[in-house]
Amino acid sequence: MNRRNFIQSALVIASAASFTSSKALSGESITSAMLTNKIPSSAESIPVIGMGTNRNLTVRSGSSLADKVTLIKTFFELGGEMLDSSPMYGQSEEVIGQCLQQLNYPPQLFSTTKVWTKGKAEGIAQMRHSMKLWGLDRFDLMQIHNLVDWKTHLKTLRQWKDKGLIKHIGITTSHGRDHQELESIMKNEQLDFIQVTYNIRDREVENRLLPLALEKGIAVIVNRPFNGLFGYTQGKELPDFAKSLGCSSWAQFYLKFAVSHPAVTCAIPATSKIKHLKDNMDAGRGLLPDNQERKKMVTLFAQYL
Ligand SMILES: NC(=O)c1ccc[n+]([C@@H]2O[C@H](COP(=O)([O-])OP(=O)(O)OC[C@H]3O[C@@H](n4cnc5c(N)ncnc54)[C@H](OP(=O)(O)O)[C@@H]3O)[C@@H](O)[C@H]2O)c1
Repeated sequence: MNRRNFIQSALVIASAASFTSSKALSGESITSAMLTNKIPSSAESIPVIGMGTNRNLTVRSGSSLADKVTLIKTFFELGGEMLDSSPMYGQSEEVIGQCLQQLNYPPQLFSTTKVWTKGKAEGIAQMRHSMKLWGLDRFDLMQIHNLVDWKTHLKTLRQWKDKGLIKHIGITTSHGRDHQELESIMKNEQLDFIQVTYNIRDREVENRLLPLALEKGIAVIVNRPFNGLFGYTQGKELPDFAKSLGCSSWAQFYLKFAVSHPAVTCAIPATSKIKHLKDNMDAGRGLLPDNQERKKMVTLFAQYL
């Protein structure tokens, strides 16, 4: 059974929802379904909430591999699919591979990692090593991390895509200084995905990159959807307006803001805690704000800065 079939029933329900519309899902029977969004280039649907794996998948600092297996297992049980990693993230890929093995490779996995080195041979060796660590013979998405040697790797990635070793090609950044170059790559090259930082405080990508992604049919992954935002609202009561949008926490307020932009395909919050994971996954269910509500969210958040 492939990952599409495995979650077919949930997708049938969720695909009825228009991602850009307000109150995307309504009614008793469907409010628990995870919202999904289509990858424009492949028409494949993925849940709007995935998981990042930088810093949260280390087994050194007082947490065991069993804790990580439980974390990843819970992620899949709650409707998650996209796990995003990188050779930059220490033990992350190794721990993911061990978890997946113990969980018998859940078919709904959307495997996402990055190439983060210079040189053609080095890039190929690194991606092969990632496959070994994950225990996979193909990735759903391979991204060029932080634009590093992107011209070299893009050629390899096109060949790998033709050979079926990867399904989608992407490129990532979390730095404003890369935005101009990324914009030029998006205009001139064929990409399936970009990954950028976007949250209710860091909104620069709204100006050019997100509209361009919509225009060119490029899927968008949001990294750093929290990026220190909790520091502004810690201990502050969630306002009634946030509750009216279906949020029961500040985390959900931030995630619903990020994934309700029409260009955004999914966000990949990272957490090491089951409680936070559940909180984050719930942000991908039920209601999403419309444009007017998003503007109100920005105004409301500005009061806490
Ligand atoms: N250039 C790139 O390609 C690039 C750059 C940056 C990030 N990324 C990707 O994006 C992912 C996400 O970014 P990030 O890890 O930098 O930051 P993030 O997801 O914005 O924030 C992670 C922090 O939020 C906390 N947190 C998570 N859920 C929470 C909740 N419900 N309530 C309260 N606190 C919560 C986590 O702590 P707890 O563990 O205590 O929950 C952690 O400290 C990365 O893991 C990585 O996969 C890619």
